Amino acid sequence: MFLVTGATGSLGRRIVRQLREANLPVRAFVRLFSRYNELEDRGAEIFIGDLKQDKDIAKACQGVDYIISAHGSGNDTQALDYRANIELIDQALANGVKHFVYISVLGVERNYSDAPVFKAKREVEKYLINSGLSYTILRPSGFANNLLPLAERFKDTGIYLLIGDPQHRSSIVSTDDLARIAIASVSTEGAKNQIFAVGGPDILNREDIPRIFAHLFSQDPIIINPPLFVFDGLRTGLGLFNPQLQRSLGTLRTLLAHEFYCTPDEINRLETVYNFKLESLESFLRRYLG
Ligand SMILES: NC(=O)c1ccc[n+]([C@@H]2O[C@H](COP(=O)([O-])OP(=O)(O)OC[C@H]3O[C@@H](n4cnc5c(N)ncnc54)[C@H](OP(=O)(O)O)[C@@H]3O)[C@@H](O)[C@H]2O)c1
Repeated sequence: MFLVTGATGSLGRRIVRQLREANLPVRAFVRLFSRYNELEDRGAEIFIGDLKQDKDIAKACQGVDYIISAHGSGNDTQALDYRANIELIDQALANGVKHFVYISVLGVERNYSDAPVFKAKREVEKYLINSGLSYTILRPSGFANNLLPLAERFKDTGIYLLIGDPQHRSSIVSTDDLARIAIASVSTEGAKNQIFAVGGPDILNREDIPRIFAHLFSQDPIIINPPLFVFDGLRTGLGLFNPQLQRSLGTLRTLLAHEFYCTPDEINRLETVYNFKLESLESFLRRYLG
């Protein structure tokens, strides 16, 4: 039995789908008010709970062989990115879980001090590595599905908003490939107790993204490119009214200000260990947008 947290999220939903397509048993950890009908229809066991509640985590982990931690945090990084994962790891140990797959983030080891999610993920990684559990840590770059609504808007308007340096490099990953890698990690010998950077096959400049959209929709892009200090000014202004929001925007600022891409060696290692070719961003977008 797999336990998947964040089962209604962009990644978790795909993990549950792929597990059910392979006819594997999966318990989907969901909140009562989330949209989990599709998961239920596919034959997932629905566990209703809240990852902020230790007793829910303890109950969800009973009788589980594998855990894939794929939840996000909203605004509560301390409770969800950090505490819930520590509790999941403790319960994995208590329940004799065979393998724990943790979704971290690319660049987590760079110790960005202004990015709460990065800090939490780094601490969870350390805790998992020292736990004695069999584990795989996946450090993905940005997910391709994030671009689907932007592509839809581009299709209607031709507009693409690009904040910060257009030359910055990224390795957007197909969210379906990441789901496949997360599942395969429990049964791939070369993935045991390993950390992988996970990205798409191509290193893209951020300005390549509207070009890919332009190619897909045969439409010239209108790129609006405010510099990072505009974001900083807005963030400071918001902080006067809501200091908590200002702090949590630190993660977004870190993402906007730095490069997040995988080297060809990292991609080669991934394709070798997991034995498949990663999908390009353009191919992912074509599949979803037709
Ligand atoms: N998106 C990216 O580009 C990216 C890049 C690198 C790493 N990551 C990491 O990858 C993971 C998955 O990201 P994602 O984009 O798929 O996340 P997402 O779409 O934002 O989904 C978040 C999931 O967490 C669940 N969740 C939030 N609070 C919860 C709570 N209190 N109790 C139970 N479930 C709760 C949500 O449930 P509801 O449906 O109820 O809200 C949802 O299923 C995250 O750890 C993220 O940090 C993401």
